[in-house]
Amino acid sequence: MMNLLASFIPAQASHFAADIDRLYFFLIGVSMFFTILIGMLVIYFVIRFRRRSDDERPAPTKDIVALEIGWTIIPLVLVIIMFVWGAALFYKQWRPPADAMEILVTGKKWMWKMQHPSGRSEINDLTVPVGRPIRLTMTSEDVIHSFFVPAFRTKADVVPGRYTSSWFLPTEKGSFHLFCAEYCGAEHSLMKGWVHVVSEEEYEAWARGDDTDVAMLTPVEAGQRLFNELGCVVCHNPASGAMGPHLAGLFGSEVRLNTGRSVIADEEYIRESILEPMAKITEGYQPIMPTYKGQVSETQVMHLIAYIRSLSEE
Ligand code: CUA
Repeated sequence: MMNLLASFIPAQASHFAADIDRLYFFLIGVSMFFTILIGMLVIYFVIRFRRRSDDERPAPTKDIVALEIGWTIIPLVLVIIMFVWGAALFYKQWRPPADAMEILVTGKKWMWKMQHPSGRSEINDLTVPVGRPIRLTMTSEDVIHSFFVPAFRTKADVVPGRYTSSWFLPTEKGSFHLFCAEYCGAEHSLMKGWVHVVSEEEYEAWARGDDTDVAMLTPVEAGQRLFNELGCVVCHNPASGAMGPHLAGLFGSEVRLNTGRSVIADEEYIRESILEPMAKITEGYQPIMPTYKGQVSETQVMHLIAYIRSLSEE
């Protein structure tokens, strides 16, 4: 039975895969049961209650309360099971564990760019170690794409202007298809690649760049360099009377705005502050920061965020 199924479904290569498949087959099973039941009843009723003569008038049918209750309660219970089961899996997929390794993903017509914590990046390939939870932080340079790895049963939209995330724990070594699952233009069907799941040792050697002598900066180092090059440090420094708020300890904290409202300084907030500095002004500061829209790529914004976040981790 499992061998027969295996020829119809992709490999189960993440710890979600079996759970998702169980729910999927439950949904298929329930649908098939009722499709067959209703189909057979239709045929049975057509024959059993066919008109036998031109003047035949069937007797009126009375309400059958037990039947009414039955066909209300049974579907209700079934859809509640589907909802609770689906929601539980959804929450599990929604919340990455705290120790997950973060990989930055940028979608762009028509390619995927990945960057690892070591600074190594790759195009249309994603190399990950087996048995370690991986969190993808994703955004797009242009239109909506969708990061889909069938063997992991994970799919998440990659949306311009904001961050989405996805996580998985690869359980098997091998190479698995990566697809874009959102129609994004002429070469959508070519926007694909491979996820390579390798051993922990192979991954560490690869991430260090043992096989290459290209210089690498980690996202934090790249962000720090950019922070200095763009002159952010001129205003955002610890000196009293600085023009901009100091950024150490900012990430994850609550920021009071000049409107009296408060926001949490998360990725979205910092991204917005870099690209649309006028949108939210910190209490006690003037709206003087210029926009960096067009000057920094989405990958560079992610680097700046990585650097700013690092200032809160020491
Ligand atoms: Cu990117 Cu379809």
